[in-house]
Amino acid sequence: MICRARAPAKVILFGEHWVVHGGRALASAIGLYSSVYAEPLREGVIVESRNLGVMEDVLKSCRVFCNLKRSFEYIANGVMWPARIVVNSEIPVGAGLGSSAAVAVSASAAYACVGGRDVTPELVSNAAYESEKLVHGTPSGVDNTVSAFGGFLLYRRGEGFKAIHVGSLNDVTLLVIDTGVIRSTAKAVSLFSSRLKRLNSIGQDLLRLAEGIVEEALRAVRKGDAVMLGELMDVAHGLLNAMGVSHIELEKAVHAARANGALGAKLTGAGMGGSAIALVEKERAAAVAENLRRLGFRVYSGALGVRGVSITALE
Ligand code: MEV
Repeated sequence: MICRARAPAKVILFGEHWVVHGGRALASAIGLYSSVYAEPLREGVIVESRNLGVMEDVLKSCRVFCNLKRSFEYIANGVMWPARIVVNSEIPVGAGLGSSAAVAVSASAAYACVGGRDVTPELVSNAAYESEKLVHGTPSGVDNTVSAFGGFLLYRRGEGFKAIHVGSLNDVTLLVIDTGVIRSTAKAVSLFSSRLKRLNSIGQDLLRLAEGIVEEALRAVRKGDAVMLGELMDVAHGLLNAMGVSHIELEKAVHAARANGALGAKLTGAGMGGSAIALVEKERAAAVAENLRRLGFRVYSGALGVRGVSITALE
C-alpha cells in the first residue's frame, strides 16, 4: 500500500502558555500543510525531508528524526514495519504554527496507513504527542490535537478538546505575520514557567485573567463580535509580553499591524520570535499585509477552521 497524508498547521488564538499551566487555549487549524508520502520497503524505516535535505534510516540510528521514530514506535506498538517516508512541509519552522506537530501527525498517519492500520485522528494525535514530548519537553498537546482533528478547538490539558462552532466572522481575515526569528518552544515554555512560579500569587492572578480572556473570546467568537475579539487579542498579547515571551520583532509586528488598522494583534504560539497574528477587516487585509511585507515580514493568510489530517491510500 502506498499512502499520502496531509495535516494542517495550527494557530493559537488565545491561551498559549497558560494552557501548559491548566488554562484553556482556543486554537484553529489553518490552511498551511505538511504532506507525507509513504511506501513499503523490504527493510529499514527511512525518513526523508525534501525541505531539510536530510535522509535517515531511523531503525539504525537517528539524529534529526528521533521524534518521528517515537511516533512510529507508538503506531506499531511492537516491531516497526519497514517503510520509506517522505516529508514535504509548507509550514514555516519555528514560526509558532505547530510545524513539528503537523509533520508528526502527517508522518504518523502515512506510516499507520502503509502498515495497514486503521488511521483515526485520535491514534495519530497520540502518536504525534509522543514526538512532541521529545521536541518540546512538556507540550500541552494542543498542537497535535488541532492538526489531527482540525476546525476550531477549545483545549485544556488532561480534559482534551471541545469543537467550537464559529459561524459569523465572515467580514474579517486573520493574518499570520512571521518575524523570521526562530526560537525554541521548549526554551519559551521553560522561561514562562519559571517566571510564573517566581510570581507566586501574582502569577495565579494572571492565570485567572488569561482564563477570563478566553471566556470573553469564546463569547465574542460565538456572537461574531470581531471588534471585541481584536481588543481581547491586544490584551492577551499584553499579558504574554508581561510574562517575558515577546520579542522586539513581535512588538514591531503587533504595533505595525495595529497602526495599519488591524482590529487587534498578538503573538501566537510560543513567542520569543515566531509569529504574530492580526485580525483585519477583509477589505483592508491586502493593504495591511502589503505594508507589513514592506517592513520585512513574511505574511500568510490561510483559511481558518480547515479539516484535520486526511489520508489517501493510493493502491
Ligand atoms: C506552542 O504552540 C504553544 C505553547 O502553549 C506550548 C504548548 O501548548 O505545548 C507555548
